[in-house]
Amino acid sequence: SLPEAAIVVLYGATGDLASRMVLPAIDEVRRRGLMPAHWRLVGCSTGRLDDDAFRDRVAAALEGSEQGTPDDVDEVLGRVRYAGGGFSAEDPGDLPGVLNEVREDLAGETDAEPLVLHFLAVPPGAFAPIARGLGAHGLAEGARVVFEKPYGTSLESFVELDGAVKEVLDEEQIFRIDHFLGKEGVQTIYVMRFANQLFGSEWSRASVEQVQIDVPEDLDVANRIGFYEATGAALDMIVTHLFQVAGQVAMEPPRSLREPAAIHQAREDALRSFRPLEPAEDVVLGQFEGYRDIEGVAPDSEQDTYVAVRLWVDSERWRGVPFLLRTGKRMAAKAQRITLVLGPPYGPLDPELDTPNSIQIDFSGSGEVRLGITVKTPGPDLTYSSGTAVLDLDDVPGGEPISPYASLIHDVLLGDRSLFTTAEALQGAFTAFAPLQGDARPAPLPYVPGSWGPEEARRLPAPHEWFLGQ
Ligand code: BG6
Repeated sequence: SLPEAAIVVLYGATGDLASRMVLPAIDEVRRRGLMPAHWRLVGCSTGRLDDDAFRDRVAAALEGSEQGTPDDVDEVLGRVRYAGGGFSAEDPGDLPGVLNEVREDLAGETDAEPLVLHFLAVPPGAFAPIARGLGAHGLAEGARVVFEKPYGTSLESFVELDGAVKEVLDEEQIFRIDHFLGKEGVQTIYVMRFANQLFGSEWSRASVEQVQIDVPEDLDVANRIGFYEATGAALDMIVTHLFQVAGQVAMEPPRSLREPAAIHQAREDALRSFRPLEPAEDVVLGQFEGYRDIEGVAPDSEQDTYVAVRLWVDSERWRGVPFLLRTGKRMAAKAQRITLVLGPPYGPLDPELDTPNSIQIDFSGSGEVRLGITVKTPGPDLTYSSGTAVLDLDDVPGGEPISPYASLIHDVLLGDRSLFTTAEALQGAFTAFAPLQGDARPAPLPYVPGSWGPEEARRLPAPHEWFLGQ
């Protein structure tokens, strides 16, 4: 349940992630009436700002957000403080002093002991130093700590980071964010599957020929080239978001839909059954033409801006069913779509019946469930047409969509860890991904910006096509 009082300490408070995502999300939680009755926000960063200068930044972040400045922005700003000078084990900067003042201030409002939530909106290199600082300055006990992605960049770095963090925090205190798990369309997968005979009965290799998880983006990377040139599409998206979505599709039924531990176990088991990738067979990397001309990119850069993967899930349910994952920048369109391609129908064979049935989940925006159904083409002749029945989750009675970040922040306040990644699941993800980080990594193939990527990737879903962009 929601605590009576909470203090959110936002590290990286003057950074891009904080102003673009975290601050607007916290305000969304507040607008929805889902914040604790008594709460404060302490922004923490290296710069020396006074409280008012930081409040101006908070106001600007809310103004620039999708929802715009709330009429009652002062209600937010009145709860905001700033602690400069950085934070580490060696030097805690201004944070301990400011936190004490905030605690005293809250004590004037309520007797309740505030929950302290440390939100690390910082580059991954700062995760371990801040965690050590929490331990060194007595700020870890009873706190919840949110880590942004990427939580590790390889199996080795993940193990090292998690080891350092666990010296200070228990697993139950750790909330590793993967905001794709907070998307309505992704959350609905298991409800749709376990609450409907129609889907539950088809959800296995008995009916499904392949699963596509397709996230083309038309976005450019020029404005975040430092990060991108060091990361690439596969590390940015596959081992993180797309593997988690694949785990959500592949999981066995958990004991309960309301027990975080049961859901974790089911998702962990699914990720651990991912077979390590075979780069030569099952991976196509791409780089859009012109990428090397961007300022900040090495003239001979081999970084991937596109990746398509055929993943095998070694569970009884999915044996022999390929999971096709694809994403890239500067592609022809922006979409986020899961497609379960169903096998041939049971009726009499008919050569004209060539479009497979499909169950699709669109997880961009508010989310959609789509069914690709073959019907008789209306008219005097017996011919077939494929239509799509669409349920926009926005239209579901009583629904009030919440953005992925806001949904996850609300879960942290509640202490509900169902939609956060676990150490075991990430270990499974990095293990399956590791071959792509070794000598067998294929060279990226060029593709035309605004296209669907290298032609070579068409062999991966054969005999089917990629559903998007056909
Ligand atoms: C981020 C990736 O985590 O997710 C970006 O670093 C990607 O490269 C983004 O564009 C996609 O998120 P969203 O919210 O647009 O689905």
